[in-house]
Amino acid sequence: MANASLMTVALMAICLSPLISFALAAGKFNVVGKVYCDTCRVEFETKLSEPIPGASVKLECRKEKDEVVAFSREAVTNATGGYNIPVEGDHAEEICEVRVDKSPRADCNEKMEAWEKAQVELSGQDGLAEPTRIANNLGFRKKEAVPGCAQVLKEMGFPFTE
Ligand SMILES: *[C@@H]1O[C@H](CO)[C@@H](O)[C@H](O)[C@H]1NC(C)=O
Repeated sequence: MANASLMTVALMAICLSPLISFALAAGKFNVVGKVYCDTCRVEFETKLSEPIPGASVKLECRKEKDEVVAFSREAVTNATGGYNIPVEGDHAEEICEVRVDKSPRADCNEKMEAWEKAQVELSGQDGLAEPTRIANNLGFRKKEAVPGCAQVLKEMGFPFTE
C-alpha cells in the first residue's frame, strides 16, 4: 500500500514537472493596480481621490495597436479599489493595456484620457521574471468636484478654477 502510493506520488511528480517548467518558461504574471475616483476633476491623483470598489477593468494584449486581441481578461476591483489579473504566457510581442470599463458609481463614471488606460509589460525575456506587474492607477472623473479641492490643489502648488 505504502509503496503503491509512493509510486503514485513519484509518477505524478514526473508527469507534472514538464507542465510546471512549461508554465515558468511561458510566464505567469499578476497585473495589479487600483481604480480611483478623480473627485477634484483634475485628471491626476490628489489626497481627496477615492478608491472605487466594484469597478470593472479589462486587460487586453494586441499584436500591434488596433489589431486583433490576442489575450483578454476582465477583473473587478475589491473593497480597497484594487484588482489582480492573473496572466499566463509570455506577451513579449504584444502591446498589453489595462483599461477601465465600468464604474459602479453613477456620480463618478466619466472616462478620461489620462486615467483610462495603462500599459503593462508582460514578458519575462529579460530574465528578471518578477511575476507582479504594477499598472499605473486608473480612474473615473467625478461629475462634480467635492468641497476642499481648491485647498488641496493649492497645497500641491496648482491653481484651481471651478
Ligand atoms: C485588493 O486587491 C489588491 C491587489 O490585488 C490587494 O493588494 C489588496 O490586499 C486587496 N484588498 C482587499 C481588502 O482584499
